[in-house]
Amino acid sequence: MTNQIQDNSYGYFDDNNKEYVITTPKTPYPWINYLGDTDYFSLLSNTGGGYSFYKDAKFRRLTRYRYNNVPVDTGGKYFYIKDGEEAWSPSWKPLKTDLDEYECRHGMGYTRIRGQKNSISSSVLFFVPQGEQLEVQQMTLTNHGDTTKTIKVFSFVEWCLWNAEDDMTNFQRNFSTGQVEVKDSVIYHKTEYRERRDHFAFYAVNAPIQGFDTSRDEFLGDYNGFEAPQVVSNGQPNNSIAHGWSPIGSHYIEVTLEPGETKDYVFTLGYVEMPQDDKWEAPAVINKTKALAAIARFDTVDKVQTAFNSLNQYWEELLSKFIVDSDDERLNRGVNIWNQYQNMVTFNMSRSASFFESGIGRGMGFRDSNQDLIGFVHLVPDRARQRILDIAATQFEDGSAYHQYQPLTKRGNAAVGGNFNDDPMWLVQSVTVYVKETGDFSILDEQVPYDNDETKSTSLFEHLTRSFNFITRNLGEHGLPLIGRADWNDCLNLNCFSTDPNESFQTTENKEGGRAESVMIAGQFVLFGNDYVELCKQLDKKEEASRAQMYIDSMVGSIKENAWDGEWFLRAYDAFGKKVGTHEAKESKIFIESQGFCTMAGIGLEEGLVDKSLNSVNEHLSCDFGIVLNYPAFTEYRIEYGEISTYPQGYKENGGIFCHNNPWIMIGETVRGNGDLAFEYYTKIAPAYQDDKVKLHKTEPYVYAQMIAGKEAATPGQAKNSWLTGTAAWNYVAITQSILGIKPHYNGLQIDPCIPKVWQGYAVKRVYRGVTYNIQINNPKNVSKGIASITVDGKSVEGNILPLFDQGSSHEVIVTMG
Ligand code: GLC
Ligand code: GLC
Repeated sequence: MTNQIQDNSYGYFDDNNKEYVITTPKTPYPWINYLGDTDYFSLLSNTGGGYSFYKDAKFRRLTRYRYNNVPVDTGGKYFYIKDGEEAWSPSWKPLKTDLDEYECRHGMGYTRIRGQKNSISSSVLFFVPQGEQLEVQQMTLTNHGDTTKTIKVFSFVEWCLWNAEDDMTNFQRNFSTGQVEVKDSVIYHKTEYRERRDHFAFYAVNAPIQGFDTSRDEFLGDYNGFEAPQVVSNGQPNNSIAHGWSPIGSHYIEVTLEPGETKDYVFTLGYVEMPQDDKWEAPAVINKTKALAAIARFDTVDKVQTAFNSLNQYWEELLSKFIVDSDDERLNRGVNIWNQYQNMVTFNMSRSASFFESGIGRGMGFRDSNQDLIGFVHLVPDRARQRILDIAATQFEDGSAYHQYQPLTKRGNAAVGGNFNDDPMWLVQSVTVYVKETGDFSILDEQVPYDNDETKSTSLFEHLTRSFNFITRNLGEHGLPLIGRADWNDCLNLNCFSTDPNESFQTTENKEGGRAESVMIAGQFVLFGNDYVELCKQLDKKEEASRAQMYIDSMVGSIKENAWDGEWFLRAYDAFGKKVGTHEAKESKIFIESQGFCTMAGIGLEEGLVDKSLNSVNEHLSCDFGIVLNYPAFTEYRIEYGEISTYPQGYKENGGIFCHNNPWIMIGETVRGNGDLAFEYYTKIAPAYQDDKVKLHKTEPYVYAQMIAGKEAATPGQAKNSWLTGTAAWNYVAITQSILGIKPHYNGLQIDPCIPKVWQGYAVKRVYRGVTYNIQINNPKNVSKGIASITVDGKSVEGNILPLFDQGSSHEVIVTMG
């Protein structure tokens, strides 16, 4: 792999190490990373901000963080170093002392932040060892000078009193409940452990300490913030024990370094659950056996290094399943590293915890999690399988679904309820994608409850049938699916009619009998319905296949008849039966979602509807920064359309570039064979291509953001809501499957590229169902699409599906386009 250095004055990609290297702490916005990928998670910014939680960011928050604070990014895993009279932090914040050197490397599941001041350097490696419920912070201190130095190190975390929402609001109680214990070099946080909780947290270091603090007030002193703690100014700790107020964990260590000497300290911050009858070693004294065992697993640099190596090895393996080797370094970087990494993060987090999602609001979205899965399934298929079963278990018997479920309980969220009528068909997508990737048809026979009620269980296949039937049973007067509260676009609330600023557009009871219809769901029904039919055929369920086909044909008929506006597809019919997204309207004449789904499904391809629709997208919706959602944006609140019209023009669902749906258009372009435009759209939003826009974008240059302000915005090109977005999974599918054309099928890997004509070729290594395919694609005639021949291990293959082979074997594939 090449290692092109990209300089945008904030940092660059180091592809060999799969890292993004940030060279100044003063990024336009906190640029973060995620540590942990199963139970224990941390969010960590390039200046040490962020927090940790166990499984659920709301109910098991270990450390405190202050969202929307001034200045931004307040609260985190801080270190203070006192060298003589001068104090500094290796992550620059919170002290903000100018550093002589600074570097933050965000890698796959780890972050290393290094600061240097007055010839002392401190490098802290943060990561969550696999299978552990803790994070390691290995601090390496080096004296680069020629005199012996004695420095003072203060660590710092602020405990969250577990329920992150309560912690931010319920002060009359919280200020009296906080409890800690300190023993040797370990600080234990045990608020509420004496009553109903069976868990506590600890913060340890693998060396003797010369003091500590656990009371925030005593650590900071009156009137001070994190940027000026009293103990750091005084150069000595208070050995304070917190009783209520705000408990913290801070170790104090004195370190002497000879010239050239390096010393390492391993801090561990962790979570421990205990059986009810084994919680105490003495009255009011925590039983520490389990905690000490965890701490002991990481009490030397060697042990840390071993765990770090296996984390790296794990990511090497995950990222070896799809590797593109092209002349375009940015393409390689996006596909091989960062897009897949973001897919893992969205799969884990859904929309819960980022620097834009507070971790207390949303659980796992039914639609979101199904979609996140399509970019993740090849990485860890077993986890995808379990996720599918969890999601399906929240479906209702009539095929509809809770819009969200809580990760800790895996129960549907009754407060939000259901009635988002796009939800059911996403399950069809995720399940068919899973089976195509793995060949594991057995998942379809799994008995899965409805509404988590075991007595109401059917096969997973039956769940899909009910998803499908939900749509056919809920059609409106134009033969198009009823929209319910909303479809994919949460903000197109056509049945809502809200006049009360205190009610949520998403949960408000619908008015007027819910007459509005969605063309997006119609297209979605055809697209994923076709997958369903194909699945039925694979299972030899011929009758069900033809029954389903009949409904799909009839939906295609309704779309052509009632949802075609002349140059593009309508978006919907509103509650009065009036068209939405039509040239007859003054505002929002055209929307992206119905163009995306109807073209991906190839509706009206022969009659030229796909061409016209996509040409209209290009003409009206595309701009320098991507493709906007609707145009022209609404300029005033339209009660009959709901939340979409509440956003100022050019932002979010009202004329913003909602990156999630741009790949639908890329895929649509490949349906009509336009590889040039498909790829151009890809490069417009793919992070690796935005080197000249990093400052404008503000958010991390290595991941997709949910939204980039659109052409009608006051600040076009400015991104918001990075990391947790369906953009990651969909763009990955668009580039790897529709553009690069390596697409899992029920019976093997299908090869069907649709690329820019100028490309001469590229190679892909794809590990699929345990078999390694080394695929060389040549494009001697400069076409976008079409295959002249395929050979596997020198033998030519009929059609474009590669045969399956024995697990563990490797095969050479040569594809000639033309
Ligand atoms: C948010 C939601 C997603 C929705 C999209 C469009 O990203 O998480 O479910 O589809 O907005 O409204
Ligand atoms: C708002 C956002 C939308 C999100 C929804 C659900 O409507 O605009 O993107 O999906 O909230 O929280």
